[in-house]
Amino acid sequence: MRLTFTIQRFNPEVDASPYPQDIRLDVGRGMTVLDALIRIKQECDGSLAVRYSCRSAICGSCAMTINGSEKLACRTSLRKELERHGHITVAPLRNLPVIKDLVVDMASFWEKIRDVHPWLVSEARPPQVGVAGQTGVRDQATPQFHNVDACIMCGACVAACTVHEVSKGFAGPAALAKADRFLSDPRDSPSATSARLSALQDEDGIWDCTRCNFCVEVCPKDVKPMEAIVRLRRASLERGFTTTGGARHILGFTDLVEQQGRLNEAIMPLKVVGFAPRGLLRILPLGLKMLLKGKIPNPLGHAIPGLSQLQALLRRVRRASPPA
Ligand code: SF4
Ligand code: SF4
Ligand code: FES
Repeated sequence: MRLTFTIQRFNPEVDASPYPQDIRLDVGRGMTVLDALIRIKQECDGSLAVRYSCRSAICGSCAMTINGSEKLACRTSLRKELERHGHITVAPLRNLPVIKDLVVDMASFWEKIRDVHPWLVSEARPPQVGVAGQTGVRDQATPQFHNVDACIMCGACVAACTVHEVSKGFAGPAALAKADRFLSDPRDSPSATSARLSALQDEDGIWDCTRCNFCVEVCPKDVKPMEAIVRLRRASLERGFTTTGGARHILGFTDLVEQQGRLNEAIMPLKVVGFAPRGLLRILPLGLKMLLKGKIPNPLGHAIPGLSQLQALLRRVRRASPPA
């Protein structure tokens, strides 16, 4: 079968902007997008830049945008893409600088991974008694990594992240998932865990995620970075990191639901910004708009029926999951 591939080409040294190039190639059954790109490079245009290594979905180097979504080219079947989209378009990962054609610069990605200190910090070294001793340490502590350690650092989640798209400083799903992996490891010292969580409270940290779920959808290894971020948020609240806007939003939300049985939009902004004059001034225009549109319920409104059952339920949930 002869197929047309539309490949985004761009050489920053000579091109003013990226442009699509159509290349026709005879393809066989069972080929992947990476198989086709390698043949295009060998048979049609040797100047095409494409990065790959393992060809087995292990090294993470062949992530790119295929028919509009982030995928590993080496595990993307041509047949399935054709069945779903009727054509094959290939472009580099989004929101990362292009070095050439399908190859992006991953420097910012690695910098963010380094920023979360992806190594164990233990206060006392485990006894050096050989392999058996090391196994003993592992047996005592059975870490739950929630599959986060399956990450192959392909960058697909970062390219798909809606926050990274508008805010390049955002730590991003891969680095935050990596932070969660070390937070889940009981061999990490308590002071290191606290330091990790403290650093993640800053701007561009865990509270910037909008929970759009795109990182979960595109991850080829089922790492579920957004769920890792939720675990980091929960751990932060349990350890008393409650002063950020994001933390105050969650706590204010649950307080209101517990007190009144529902969200009260008149009080919620105050729960987030508090009574600080600068914060109040910032939310005043929004409050006025909501008032004019009738969106502010009576702050002293009656509680909803069944509130006592809801409160009993919340108490049971708290008892079932005591703070760490
Ligand atoms: S869920 Fe959060 S981290 Fe994941 S893609 Fe969306 S904004 Fe980014
Ligand atoms: S979390 Fe998934 S998508 Fe993100 S870098 Fe790791 S393997 Fe790739
Ligand atoms: S070439 Fe290694 S993951 Fe695709």
